[in-house]
Amino acid sequence: MTIHRIESPLIVHQEQPLNAEPPGDLLRQSFLTPQEHFFIRTHGSIPAVDSATYRLLITGMVQRKRELSLDELRSMSPPHTVTATLQCAGNRRDELMAVKPIPGEVPWRGDVIGTAKWRGVPLRDVLEAVGVQAGARYVASTSLDEAQFEGEKVSYGSSITLEKALSPDVTLAYEMNDEPLTPEHGFPLRLIVPGYIGARSVKWLREITLQEHTSTNPYQARDYKTFPPEITPKTVDWSSGRTLEDLILNSVITTPQEGETVAAGPTRIQGYAITGEGTPVGRVELSIDGGKTWTTTNIVERADPYAWCFWEATLALSPGDRQMIVRGWDASGQTQPEDVRQLWNFKGYMNNAWHRVKVHVT
Ligand code: MTE
Repeated sequence: MTIHRIESPLIVHQEQPLNAEPPGDLLRQSFLTPQEHFFIRTHGSIPAVDSATYRLLITGMVQRKRELSLDELRSMSPPHTVTATLQCAGNRRDELMAVKPIPGEVPWRGDVIGTAKWRGVPLRDVLEAVGVQAGARYVASTSLDEAQFEGEKVSYGSSITLEKALSPDVTLAYEMNDEPLTPEHGFPLRLIVPGYIGARSVKWLREITLQEHTSTNPYQARDYKTFPPEITPKTVDWSSGRTLEDLILNSVITTPQEGETVAAGPTRIQGYAITGEGTPVGRVELSIDGGKTWTTTNIVERADPYAWCFWEATLALSPGDRQMIVRGWDASGQTQPEDVRQLWNFKGYMNNAWHRVKVHVT
């Protein structure tokens, strides 16, 4: 499918497959990210799906295998809505790339994140209706897209534990912010796994399989894992990586942007912060003296437990080249690591070091 996005405000890193993120100051304009400003992360094609003939297959260790039309799915449960942030595990990879190159990966800035109100059918209700067999431990999802993984044609896939799949907010979503999903975001149906990295929220769902083991799809078995800094693509043992699931504490300055010129005096500084489920963001702090002193910002909007919060503060900036630093603390007293160099990994995932933005003050 060719997508013409001449008027799109997104920064396109790659056309095929399409990978794009909004500029940070645009991202920070609305708590719920409009679909046209929402980052797009694809590993392969954007399938054109006819909703009239679409069927979701439910297979594997279930009592009754099913092929469900969208109408059948909708009739299984009243609509369920959840406000959740999707964040790609590669958010802020460009800072890791500045430490040491990460060939073959998208140089995401800090804006491969967005929040939406997702509406659909709880996965739990569908699993209850088809009956899960004893012994099933994982719920694997596969897509209708076509991707190339190391030269092999595959469809994107992933898995989550049955326990997570049965939690009430894991949703088979057909709407995003009260509109049908657009083709880029998974029309007609995608999985939304709140609290987890975006990679687990499979778009263009084709099949859901109950099984004893995790998905063998390369995007689960080989991708979206972290390794210690000394591991390279040549030395990696894929099975030894840490599979990424829960989001971690992170905070980013979106306004002003890196390299901007701003007028001296009181300056409004804004951004977002996010963390995993169960440990809400406690406070967000800014420093304009290299981390010697910190000012607690105001959290102006939040929607726990699965969404980011928006924060802001007004600080007096004096003329010259200045650096602003942000760090967050979660409710359990954990904070972010100071130095991005400690976090380098060859896939470039989960950078949550203090975020630093340089501006020129005149
Ligand atoms: N689902 C399919 N079928 N194909 C993909 O490439 N990318 C995943 C996930 N689901 C992907 C997918 C990743 S890595 C992320 S971060 C989110 O979708 C991005 O969702 P979005 O493009 O709607 O923002």
